[in-house]
Amino acid sequence: MNLEIQKRALTTVIRDDLDALVVLWPAQDAELTQSKEPIAALVKSATLHGDFDHKPGALLSLYAQAGVKTRHLVIVSVADGMPAQVRTAVNAAWVALKSVKIKRLGVHAAFDVSAKILQVAATALADASYSYTHTFSQPKPRALKWVTFSTPTVNAEQRRAVVYAQALVSGVEVAKEWANRPANHATPSMLADAAKSIAKGGSFKCEVMGPKEVTKLGMGAFLAVARGSVEPLRFIVMRYNGAPSSQAPVVLVGKGITFDTGGISMKPAPEMDEMKFDMCGAASVLGVFKALGELKPALNVVGLIPATENMPDAAAVKPGDVVTSMSGQTIEILNTDAEGRLVLCDALTYAERFKPQAVIDIATLTGACVIALGGVRSGLFSNDDALAQTIQLAGEASGDTCWRMPLDEDYAEGLKSRFADVANVAGRQAGAVTAAKFLQRFASRFPWAHLDIAGTAWRSGAAKGATGRPVALLLQYLLIQAEQKSLKMPASRRV
Ligand code: BES
Ligand code: MN
Ligand code: ZN
Repeated sequence: MNLEIQKRALTTVIRDDLDALVVLWPAQDAELTQSKEPIAALVKSATLHGDFDHKPGALLSLYAQAGVKTRHLVIVSVADGMPAQVRTAVNAAWVALKSVKIKRLGVHAAFDVSAKILQVAATALADASYSYTHTFSQPKPRALKWVTFSTPTVNAEQRRAVVYAQALVSGVEVAKEWANRPANHATPSMLADAAKSIAKGGSFKCEVMGPKEVTKLGMGAFLAVARGSVEPLRFIVMRYNGAPSSQAPVVLVGKGITFDTGGISMKPAPEMDEMKFDMCGAASVLGVFKALGELKPALNVVGLIPATENMPDAAAVKPGDVVTSMSGQTIEILNTDAEGRLVLCDALTYAERFKPQAVIDIATLTGACVIALGGVRSGLFSNDDALAQTIQLAGEASGDTCWRMPLDEDYAEGLKSRFADVANVAGRQAGAVTAAKFLQRFASRFPWAHLDIAGTAWRSGAAKGATGRPVALLLQYLLIQAEQKSLKMPASRRV
């Protein structure tokens, strides 16, 4: 989806050759209400007759209106223009235009629209117009190709917001697409190929390791999970270098379980299909790198994806087996369904070699996190208050929110093992926290944060599908980092 912004008056936009035009209408705008402009007059009349009530998403759907070039004109109320209201309005407009084949869409904001609101409108539109078609007999590319925003005045900040939104929506789309693909269409090798092609498109580096290299690295925990699958594991390392190599990178680690049966500790049949989404962490890392390749910010980012299936098999790891992780710590695998932490712990140890300024892992890690926070906020855990605060802030700013959870040492009690340094599961209580406590043991050498996205990365039920979260949060976090770094640099080196 291509986004652009133009400085235009509504009187000229209505003469454009578009497949449809959406006009975002604010509740309070003296100038607009007094305007003699025909559309303003129309809204005024509809309001007087009680046919347009200025609630968010209220619509006036017009067909072949005199003086308007496009046949499809939708005027939609954004009420007070708050982010949630704009999202509602854009969704309502898209539903109203459902039966229209739209390639070129115009979105006119009949008011002074902020950078943030432009971003909200763009992401809501991208979200609403995405449809998964990859495994249908006639896969179709997305219909909506061009979105032209127009407003009466355009400043530099708004232009930047549109460039940012463009990168964000392509990143989110990559994340959704790979997360939605069924496990037999998104194997570890296919994820690796996707990473390579994203790296090529953004001209950065991508290295892919297989079982041989991972064995050599001593990743006994990752290897234990992969043992039960005939699909060979892949360890994907992406490196985006937008800053001098002296600058410590941020490392993103995405859980890439392309299908989670639970292994020998097998999951029950109902909804097991949803475990194809167990690579949403990995998909979000791919999405972030897609966006980085487009935006080219001045910072260094490493992306690590341990990718494998978790399958039961004669060769599969068994409950009670003890394996040695790359860190040297031994792990008693009491439940083979707690596999995410096993692949992540070795990737976290691997992250040490980059001497990172921060490491963030992203994982559909626990059903317990879904119970705790539902689909609204992702769970955030961190051993570093400053890092946690910045991530929370990035969440609020992007609308892709998270909530910090505790890491008291007392929560680690249940992870004690009689047969190894640590067990991979504790009891039923506080499952999201005990999983994080397990990971924390492998993250002592750097500021670390863990995002449990089990509740936020996809929706179940009729609207089943990936949400593309938390690409927006991560990208926002990274851009905050880039900004802070450039402010610390001498002015002469700023770009
Ligand atoms: N991928 C699952 C977590 C999950 C479950 C995400 C349901 C979304 C919905 C993870 O690998 C898992 O199976 N976790 C177990 C851990 C338990 C065995 C300690 C869980 O949450 O039940
Ligand atoms: Mn599992
Ligand atoms: Zn899992």
